[in-house]
Amino acid sequence: MTFNLRNRSLLDLKDFAPRDIRYLLDLSAELKRAKAAGTEHQRLKGKNIALIFEKSSTRTRCAFEVAVHDQGGHVTYIDPASSQLGHKESLKDTARVLGRMFDGLEYRGFHQTVVEDLARYSHVPVWNGLTDESHPTQILADLLTMEEFGERPLHELSFCYLGDARFNMGCSLLVGGTQMGMDVRIAAPEGLQPPTELVAQMRELARSTGARITIETDPRKAVAGADFLYTDVWVSMGEADAAWKQRIEALMPYQVTAALMQATGKPRTRFMHCLPAFHNLDTEVGRQIHERYGLKEIEVTDEVFESDASIVFTQAENRLHTIKAVLVATLG
Ligand code: CP
Ligand code: NVA
Repeated sequence: MTFNLRNRSLLDLKDFAPRDIRYLLDLSAELKRAKAAGTEHQRLKGKNIALIFEKSSTRTRCAFEVAVHDQGGHVTYIDPASSQLGHKESLKDTARVLGRMFDGLEYRGFHQTVVEDLARYSHVPVWNGLTDESHPTQILADLLTMEEFGERPLHELSFCYLGDARFNMGCSLLVGGTQMGMDVRIAAPEGLQPPTELVAQMRELARSTGARITIETDPRKAVAGADFLYTDVWVSMGEADAAWKQRIEALMPYQVTAALMQATGKPRTRFMHCLPAFHNLDTEVGRQIHERYGLKEIEVTDEVFESDASIVFTQAENRLHTIKAVLVATLG
């Protein structure tokens, strides 16, 4: 069987078949081992890659930059303030210009249609570094991390995502978990659950992958038996500050606490978060929320975040290895 992801874009995990994801996870593990052993072989020599960020980033930007450097390529970082993108030049024109200069483009921004148009008009591989709807490179890191800590194949593992499940993280975890045949639980109030159309599509896909999908409003029911509890910020980048009040009211029962970790009934349940997280008062936003609403910790308690069950920094490191795998597979 020939297997080739060369010249493919990664706009949404739905574009990739389960076997493509399996291949990328195996390649990520191999690249992780090679980096640790100092035996990495450079497969992006002479490649130029543009990183376009219309929203801020620490992990995604750094993972792309380090991955490209490790593999012998070059990156150009473009932020909206220092480019003409959107202000003086249309996306379609920008895509056609960048496609003539670069071998591949990473894009982080708002609507999924923008990253799709970038791929359509640039004619080079485009990788989605987060949109409102989707965060595919994050999910690859999450799946690798679950595989590393789960001690069983992915299709024998269960995770529960708690929080705002109608945005990028909830939707993409639902897709990735379904593709890998996992036991996928989403705990969210009505109104913050993944779009009905996506859920229906994933239920259909689950018939062939063997995934089990549960969408539940009761957090304690949803987490029973889960190997991993996963949460994300309650108000995402690009959303109005005013959303906090309503979101706190709606999502407080879904905060990941030590009691909720215990409610899984499993002694080894791990805690996951894509980061950044509000778990103490060490951030400006965290302090503002505290002043306005009296909360010292938001989507997860500091106790859980700092506990031995927390695997969030391995997750963050795995962004590097999985993004590198995507680049090597599509460009190398
Ligand atoms: N998880 C994630 O995408 O982090 P950044 O926003 O720092 O890139
Ligand atoms: N839902 C978050 C994810 C950050 C990685 C956001 O879009 O801000």
